[in-house]
Parts: sequence; structure tokens; C-alpha cells
Amino acid sequence: MRVHAILHEVTSARAVDLSVQIGALRLRNPILAASGTFGYGLEFAHLVNLNRLGGFVTKGLSREPIEGAPAPRLYPTPSGMLNAVGLQNVGVRAFVAEKLPVLRKFDTAVLANVFGCTREDYVEVIRVLENAEGLAGYELNISCPNVKRGGLQFGSDPSLVSEVVGAARKAASKRPLWVKLSPLVTDIVLIARAAEEAGADALTVANTYPAMALDFHTGRSRLGSPTGGLSGPAIKPVTLRLVWETRKAIRSPIIGLGGIETADDVLEYLSVGASAVQVGTASFADPKASERLVEALPKVLMEANIFNVNNLRGRPLAENS
Ligand SMILES: Cc1cc2nc3c(=O)[nH]c(=O)nc-3n(C[C@H](O)[C@H](O)[C@H](O)COP(=O)(O)O)c2cc1C
Repeated sequence: MRVHAILHEVTSARAVDLSVQIGALRLRNPILAASGTFGYGLEFAHLVNLNRLGGFVTKGLSREPIEGAPAPRLYPTPSGMLNAVGLQNVGVRAFVAEKLPVLRKFDTAVLANVFGCTREDYVEVIRVLENAEGLAGYELNISCPNVKRGGLQFGSDPSLVSEVVGAARKAASKRPLWVKLSPLVTDIVLIARAAEEAGADALTVANTYPAMALDFHTGRSRLGSPTGGLSGPAIKPVTLRLVWETRKAIRSPIIGLGGIETADDVLEYLSVGASAVQVGTASFADPKASERLVEALPKVLMEANIFNVNNLRGRPLAENS
């Protein structure tokens, strides 16, 4: 019985084409692990076969190392999770010197997630990465406060988006540039269009939703910080709609993420127009979540008579009968 199951898996994996094209970048399948939930990849290498993934996105990298926010940094909520990690990371130079040489040994697409507090910060991080080998591309996290504009998020204003993406585009001459949008905007299409026009090769939709939880007895936040970001299955329907709205208005490839746990979740994101997806919070409960999804996809697709994962993308919604 076990042999039969393995044979079935091998046959269906061969029969279904999972490869996807994101601009100039070809991925062996549409599953990537999401930034901030997969460390620098290396922490997961003893648990997950990194070479089976479409790729992964590193923890956000900044110009200088950041210690991050006080504990507690995570708090479980119904069907989701709050986090306030404070963008802790080793800084871009230590990433290049210590992590990248080991990552190069793996045959998977590694995207560096980049953030900053000013436009110059973003440019400097990319400048350092451009001189290093072993990256497939960059993902710009624009859900960050701009210190020169009173803490207004880069990603909340089309003119700020144009500015930061345009500057990053100029710095990133060697590699594809994905821009990760904030979901907390009135009209995501305006932001997506600004990013596309400023030179983004793909849009990642979307980041976490600002949220909070407190203990009314003590009046204290459940996190070490007053607020955090909500992720997990609770956000899936909200983000799925954002991907759908973005797809209808924008040509660039979209990478969808928010609450993905099952193969059906992946296929829903592809159906509304994503070319690939990322898996975040699910890796906390099951570190092998992304690899498990790669393994599950062929069977689910074959059962739906789909032999190329790209055939699902962006089909118009069927009429309700
Ligand atoms: C603990 C934690 C840390 C994160 N850190 C980053 C980060 O450094 N940069 C970034 O762009 N997104 C970060 N994210 C957001 C995720 O990449 C993802 O956009 C979000 O969690 C939604 O996907 P999910 O519901 O599958 O987790 C983080 C999320 C979590 C839960």
C-alpha cells in the first residue's frame, strides 16, 4: 500500500507541470517560504529540503543590525497570530558575509527581503547585495515607517511608493525586484500601479494587517509592543480579494500570501491571479509546511484535471447558478 502511494506521488509529480515564470525568474514550483517566518533559510535546512521549494524569502535585511522588539513577540489569536518582532536582523553586511556563502550551496531561489527607514537605506542595502553572488532577486518591504515623513508608511502613499521603488530599481540593475505591498490602504490598485510604473517586476500581495490584543485586567498589550501584525488563516479571505483586485488592474506577476495552509488555499490564490504564493505563519505550526504543499499540489491538480499549474491562473470567476 505504501509502495503504491509513493508510486502514485512520483507519477503525478511527473505528470503535472508545476514550474512558473515570474518575469525573468523561473521557479520549479509556485511555493516559496515567506519573509520573517523562515529565518535566513539555513535554520530550516535540517527540517526542510530547501531544493524542493520554489524558493524562499529571507528575513527583512536592513543597513545596520537591528535587535528588535521586546518580548513577547508573538500572540496567538482565533485563526491567526499577532507578531511584533521589530524587524530584528543581522544587518545586510553580516548576511552577505555569514549566511549567503552557505545558502549558495542550495539549488533554490533565494530572494532577499529589503527594508529601511529612508529611501537611502533601501538603496544602500541593495547596493551591498548587488555585489554578492547567490541571490535570485529582491523583495522590497514597503510596509515600513518613513522617518523623513513623520512615520507615514512608504507603502500607503503612491508618490512615496514611486520614489522608493524608483530608487531601488536604479540600484537593482542585476536582479528582479519584487515589491511587497501593505494591505492597509484604501485602494491597493493605486499603490500597485505606482510600484509597477516605477519598475517593479512583480508584486507581493500582501503583508500583515496592523492589529492589537490586550488583557483588560492589567490594561497591558499581549505583545511587548502596543500593536503588531495579524497573519494566518484569519486574513486569507481579505488578502485573496486584494490579489483579485490587483490582478484585474495590473499586468505584472503577483505573488499571493496570507493564511495559506493547504493545497486548496494555494490554488485559490492562483485562481484569482497569483503566479506563485508564499507560506508564512503555517511554518510556525509545521516547519515543513511549504515542502508539504509542494508534495500535495500534483495530486490535487490531477484530481481537478489540471496538468499545468499555470492553466489555473486568473480564470474569470464562474457565474453563480
Ligand atoms: C513573525 C513574522 C515576521 C515577519 N517578518 C517579516 C519581514 O521581516 N518582512 C516582511 O516583508 N514580512 C514579514 N512578515 C510578513 C509575512 O512575510 C507575511 O506577509 C504575512 O505573515 C502573511 O502571510 P501568512 O498569513 O502566511 O503568515 C512577517 C510575519 C511574521 C508572522
